[in-house]
Amino acid sequence: MSYRAIAACMLVLSLVFAGVGLVHAQTAKAKEDTKKEEKNDDKKEEKKDDEKKDEVKYLTHEEAEETMETMEKAWNKLKMNLKNKRGDVVAEQADIIAEHAAKFKKYDGLVLTGDEKGKKARDQKDFTEWLDKLEEAAKEISKQAGKSKWDKVDKAKEEASDTCGKCHDLYQPEEED
Ligand code: HEC
Repeated sequence: MSYRAIAACMLVLSLVFAGVGLVHAQTAKAKEDTKKEEKNDDKKEEKKDDEKKDEVKYLTHEEAEETMETMEKAWNKLKMNLKNKRGDVVAEQADIIAEHAAKFKKYDGLVLTGDEKGKKARDQKDFTEWLDKLEEAAKEISKQAGKSKWDKVDKAKEEASDTCGKCHDLYQPEEED
């Protein structure tokens, strides 16, 4: 073979190698890019999860019923012990009612009738106002029962009991079978 032919061969070979090298480099880069993208996606997912953690947890139907059942039990116990003037027990039950009134602001049920039908009950002004009123009245009962101020307890008890019926008339769904 002549030198010229050899040189030509070398040139062709080096071009081929360079080409292969280039292709390699490019696929490697492409791979890295997809990896980076995947990582970004992971980060996005993590962010989404964080956002979920911050979301308010509303009560399930069962939790809503439990909250109200606890409220009723406390309410009955309160009335019974008020008759016996057991201030400490009355105060204890009133605290439970106040706590559960606040909890019920996360009620997830809907408005049943009227113009606002189908909207969230918790977004209605009267609904939250009754819960605020109940919470305040329960706290007042707790405070006054601790001091055996029975007149004041009775007054707050009337205010509290008023909210139960008013709210149920509008927002408590019919019993399901
Ligand atoms: C701001 C509105 C509101 C107030 C105030 C309120 N409730 Fe309720 N209550 C509801 C709603 C809504 C339901 C229906 C819950 C469900 O079934 O999802 C309910 C249901 C109930 C139930 C039935 C629970 C069950 O297992 O189905 C009882 C008992 C009850 N409430 C007692 C009380 C008592 C006692 C008070 C006052 C001390 C009170 N509630 C104050 C809205 C209220």
